[in-house]
Amino acid sequence: MLEKRHITLTGIFTAIAVLGWVFLSSTTSSGCASPASQQSNNNSRPAAELYENYCASCHGMYMERFAGADRQAMFAMPQNEMERIIREGEYETGMPAFGDVFSDEETKAVAEHILTDIKEEANAHEYRPGFPEVIESDALSFRIDTVASGLGIPWGMTWLPDGDLLVSERSGQLFRFKDKTFQGLIEDVPEVYANGQGGLLDITLHPDYEDNGWIYIAYSEPEGNGGNTAIMRAKLYGNKLINKEKIFKAQPNTRSGVHFGCQMAFDNNNYLFFSVGERGNPPNAQDLSNHCGKIHRIHDDGTIPEDNPFVDTKDAMPSIWSYGHRNPQGLAFHPETGVLWETEHGPKGGDELNIIQKGVNYGWPEITYGINYNGTIITEDTVKAGMEQPVYQWTPSIAPCGMAFADAETYPQWANDIFSGSLSFRYVVRTSLDNQHVEKHEILLREAGRVRSIETGSDGYLYIGVENPGYVFRLIPVK
Ligand code: HEC
Repeated sequence: MLEKRHITLTGIFTAIAVLGWVFLSSTTSSGCASPASQQSNNNSRPAAELYENYCASCHGMYMERFAGADRQAMFAMPQNEMERIIREGEYETGMPAFGDVFSDEETKAVAEHILTDIKEEANAHEYRPGFPEVIESDALSFRIDTVASGLGIPWGMTWLPDGDLLVSERSGQLFRFKDKTFQGLIEDVPEVYANGQGGLLDITLHPDYEDNGWIYIAYSEPEGNGGNTAIMRAKLYGNKLINKEKIFKAQPNTRSGVHFGCQMAFDNNNYLFFSVGERGNPPNAQDLSNHCGKIHRIHDDGTIPEDNPFVDTKDAMPSIWSYGHRNPQGLAFHPETGVLWETEHGPKGGDELNIIQKGVNYGWPEITYGINYNGTIITEDTVKAGMEQPVYQWTPSIAPCGMAFADAETYPQWANDIFSGSLSFRYVVRTSLDNQHVEKHEILLREAGRVRSIETGSDGYLYIGVENPGYVFRLIPVK
């Protein structure tokens, strides 16, 4: 089983070549109108158009993403079962319901479109990454150096003092790599609820790791048949976690499979900041009596700092630092200013880049630049008194995940630029700042794959983790 994980890069490139050939030879024979779209009649909107507008942002143009455990198995699903899923959605996995905005006729046509046209096209569009030898950007040329492969969804990464790389995988496994070679799995990791967007999440070392040995692991904890986001700290003894202490557990428990957060960042005073998403229940974000839809601040042992903004507010959770967040999956301190920056997923549109300040309300779902996935309105308001505006908002959504500042010494031309991953557009965005404003964005690494994690390594390089096939690479400047 572990053997199978060692997919070599050569293997991947061979696959690209073969698939490229299949793609070219199959496109010549298609091009006529599809059977499903011919069949949609009367007032129904065409199935292909509905798929593109309502489904492709998450599932890709060819159902290459989120097709249960296996896309081929999904193509074998009975049509009435697929219609039911489209109509009702699936709360546990994060599949939204479309029954309110599709007629029965349209639901039927979309399911048929997936089971005929998309199924036929799908094999020709199997995704594989491929990069040129040297990649030119506006300011700097660089090359890709792959350091870990054979992964599923590489959620978080951190570096031990000897340079070994630990990669947390959503599935619940923690991998150790030395000099680009897989060393084995870390044993005794916390049990996770690996469902929907949950699983093993971020991982980071205590700033004084060399003295105290604490590793921090965020995960979705299965307590109460669903659980919520939790943080554990533990020490590494050989390849085993010991001295495990659960220092945070978000309340309340829920079976929802979405919006867990959870990114962690230590500041220079050893305060741990981390994000918890609103768990698919938007009102949570405005309600201080639960942990969801918030950024939190705790001491390194999980105790509550006395000067947190809501410690004296009746019924408020004392760990809350800021609120009104939807699903923050980027969190990092600016290396020079020490200001905390964050990115969060909006719904359909309205992804945000924020500066996080003590006690501030960021507005979700009272204000947003986005709309529901099914096209309905959440609120007409984008601005309200007492609610902070984003520094920048992305519409359409890029689905930002992972965030790091480029190290000024390693990349002088990119010094302190923000690097964010895009899950939906499968690229990386470099954002240069003019103080607290966005100066410009540059899109890099188009078709990298769903970018899940970005960190600055202990060697100063930017490391990027991409999903399915999951691998981690770093960016090396080329003179
Ligand atoms: C917000 C993202 C999102 C949107 C938009 C979305 N889906 Fe999904 N869908 C999901 C997720 C997540 C799953 C669960 C996948 C899993 O189990 O891994 C899913 C599951 C499914 C499944 C079941 C797959 C299986 O094998 O069990 C079908 C069918 C499906 N979606 C069809 C659609 C269609 C059709 C649309 C558009 C009308 C759509 N989805 C829009 C996220 C989305």
